[in-house]
Amino acid sequence: MEERVISGETTDFDLGFEQSLRPEFLNQYIGQHQVKDNLSIFIEAARRRSESLDHVLLYGPPGLGKTTLASVIANEMNVNLRTTSGPAIERPGDLAAVVSSLEPGDVLFIDEIHRLNRAIEEVLYPAMEDFCLDIVVGKGPSARSVRLDLPPFTLVGATTRAGSLSAPLRDRFGVPLRLEYYEVEPLTEIVLRSADVFDVSIEPTAATELAKRSRGTPRIANRLLRRVRDYAQVRGDGKISHQTAQEALEMLQVDSHGLDHIDHKLITGMIEQFRGGPVGIDTIAASIGEEPVTIEDVYEPYLLQIGFLQRTPRGRVVTNYAYEHFGYPLPGDAHH
Ligand SMILES: Nc1ncnc2c1ncn2[C@@H]1O[C@H](COP(=O)(O)OP(=O)(O)O)[C@@H](O)[C@H]1O
Ligand SMILES: [Mg+2]
Repeated sequence: MEERVISGETTDFDLGFEQSLRPEFLNQYIGQHQVKDNLSIFIEAARRRSESLDHVLLYGPPGLGKTTLASVIANEMNVNLRTTSGPAIERPGDLAAVVSSLEPGDVLFIDEIHRLNRAIEEVLYPAMEDFCLDIVVGKGPSARSVRLDLPPFTLVGATTRAGSLSAPLRDRFGVPLRLEYYEVEPLTEIVLRSADVFDVSIEPTAATELAKRSRGTPRIANRLLRRVRDYAQVRGDGKISHQTAQEALEMLQVDSHGLDHIDHKLITGMIEQFRGGPVGIDTIAASIGEEPVTIEDVYEPYLLQIGFLQRTPRGRVVTNYAYEHFGYPLPGDAHH
């Protein structure tokens, strides 16, 4: 997949940078009020009963703060955080090794939990429900099943595709939380906070400009901030004025809606080759040389969110907003 400034996915470049920007507690976690309100009640109740928090499932597009929230939960509960991921747990033994090292109340974070294989899921069910593990030891006729007791723990699962989770697994999460794209206001606040952490001076209107072009995604907001800071350092006095921000964003080819050349190619391709649709996802994918899942997970969600694309039973359709944004006459007009 092509590298994009406005991709919600993490790049290696982001890693250290993101670590330093992660809020540690709920009150530093900006926006997502519904999620925070819910969580703070469950956390407070669990604390008062001195119990572990119920299992939490976090779902939503990349870059909205799922990993961050997992560590916030551990901090709020004052317990350790163990991190692993669906693809990293290949055999039941891998899971056994992780869960048997937990201390009472710990948070086990499984990222990309939709990628767990079914054999592991089976082992996970009793671990989640009864805090025990049934593992088979030995081979052939001497194989036997051994039950291991586990300390009570909280499983926090994260996924970009809640629909790909098996129903029995999904049902075992007491607290399912869906993260939403951020509005401009909380994103502006995130940019200002990050600028503060990095000791960069930025005009509030410049922060808003970055927020508007961040596709509702904190990871993108922080990345744009970093690029714009570089620009300000090389071309100016290091301070990010509104003017500097706009020049930098123009150079990065991120438009007023946070769309880049790939979005451009996708939408204008649909308009020019398929009269705006309906077009099947496979056809769109082939026309811009991407995998269908990449379109569905990465490119399309934001275009749907801002109303540039619509999903219909017969395929994707370009909306009038998108025609206008890209400067095309509306499809009906051609007949007049
Ligand atoms: N609510 C928030 N407030 C402040 N910063 C946030 C928030 N959500 C995410 N971030 C920042 O955005 C970046 C990406 O968040 P992350 O938790 O890694 O997203 P995800 O796991 O959903 O892909 C992190 O650097 C984090 O600091
Ligand atoms: Mg993550």
